[in-house]
Amino acid sequence: MAADLEGVVATSTRLSHVDGEAGRLTIAGYAVEDLAPYARFEEVAFLLLYARLPDPSELARFTQDLAGRRALPRAGFDVLRAAAAAQAPPMDVLRMAAALLSLGRQENPLDDALTAIACFPTIVGAYWRVRNGEAPVPVRPDLPHAAHYLQQVFGAEPSAERARALETYLNTVCDHGLNASTFAARVIVSTRSDVISAITGAVGALKGPLHGGAPGPALDMVFEIGTPERAEPVIRAKLDRGERLMGFGHRIYRVRDPRADVLAQAAQRFYSSGGDQSLYELAQQVEATALRLLRERKPERRLDTNVEFYTALLLHGLGFPSALFTPTFAVGRVVGWSAHCLEQLREGRLIRPQSAYVGPTDLHYDRGTRHTRSQ
Ligand code: SDX
Repeated sequence: MAADLEGVVATSTRLSHVDGEAGRLTIAGYAVEDLAPYARFEEVAFLLLYARLPDPSELARFTQDLAGRRALPRAGFDVLRAAAAAQAPPMDVLRMAAALLSLGRQENPLDDALTAIACFPTIVGAYWRVRNGEAPVPVRPDLPHAAHYLQQVFGAEPSAERARALETYLNTVCDHGLNASTFAARVIVSTRSDVISAITGAVGALKGPLHGGAPGPALDMVFEIGTPERAEPVIRAKLDRGERLMGFGHRIYRVRDPRADVLAQAAQRFYSSGGDQSLYELAQQVEATALRLLRERKPERRLDTNVEFYTALLLHGLGFPSALFTPTFAVGRVVGWSAHCLEQLREGRLIRPQSAYVGPTDLHYDRGTRHTRSQ
């Protein structure tokens, strides 16, 4: 029996509900399509941390508090430089630098959470610039969170339109029930360990291509196909080789991931106002062909588009290199990890499932023949 816990309800939460049959995602009471494209990132973070949307004065204070936590500890830049010299993958660097956030600070769950949320954009942006031989840009506390992240990566204040598109993305992926990385965070903090340890573990889980590591390969597939006519032969060949199509399928959703619609609309707005419309249209044709062939090959498994397919298109349109797609996912999801940690600390017990032993039993260790003790 594999430890995949499929179908197991491991805890209760007020943070989000994933309805896999209906294809609905509720984030602390709000439908994702109602919240993500319109709310500020700081509003959504406040909602998940405090179980309600902030009033204007609370939003201003919360925004200012987060902005004041953006600077990396000095040791963080040492790690970024060493990692850049080794050309380390950005998700490995995010994991290394996240662990440093506890340096010189007292353990405090909410304080740790706010610091991680605030610092993730600085870590990812500064690393990418150092890795590409550019100087990190000074943190600007006057920028909203999404604009701050774009400024850290690209070195300049973004247009309102790009900041809104990224904010929609971060809001869309901020939380998603008990996904693998969130579960990892809850298990760690359920031992009464600290939030930075839990978030560091969650980064490790998100990196995997079966979880958060799919957007890059999903975009690679669209580029590999290149023209609508090549979609069928290329995808058929992948399926013939037993490959999984990145950006499709989901453990919970048996219909289209509602986040795919939110991100497809954000991408369409973005591409139609100046992006590469032909790439967007090609991606739609690739998606349609992939769905048709998956239904043909796996009729019993309702494999549909998941969040990663249009994540790839939107983040590419915003200028992110594919190596930063999963770190950008983490910049959004760190809010959910944090909120789940606080919920687990408030309401949870040690998470410790059982395992069925299937190994040998009743073996005997024969001391006489194996090891004579030195006299
Ligand atoms: C995310 O849990 C979450 O909420 C995650 C997430 C979040 O917000 O945190 O939503 C984010 O992780 C989205 C998923 C990103 N990953 C990918 O896009 C990678 C490609 N997708 C698959 O690897 C797969 O669909 C999973 C891992 C996402 C889910 O797979 P399951 O539920 O474990 O199903 P399975 O691996 O047992 O597959 C069942 C069958 C298999 O065929 P058989 O071996 O039985 O013949 O379906 C096939 C699989 O080969 N299959 C696919 C496929 N996904 C499943 N075949 C081709 N392409 C695919 N994408």
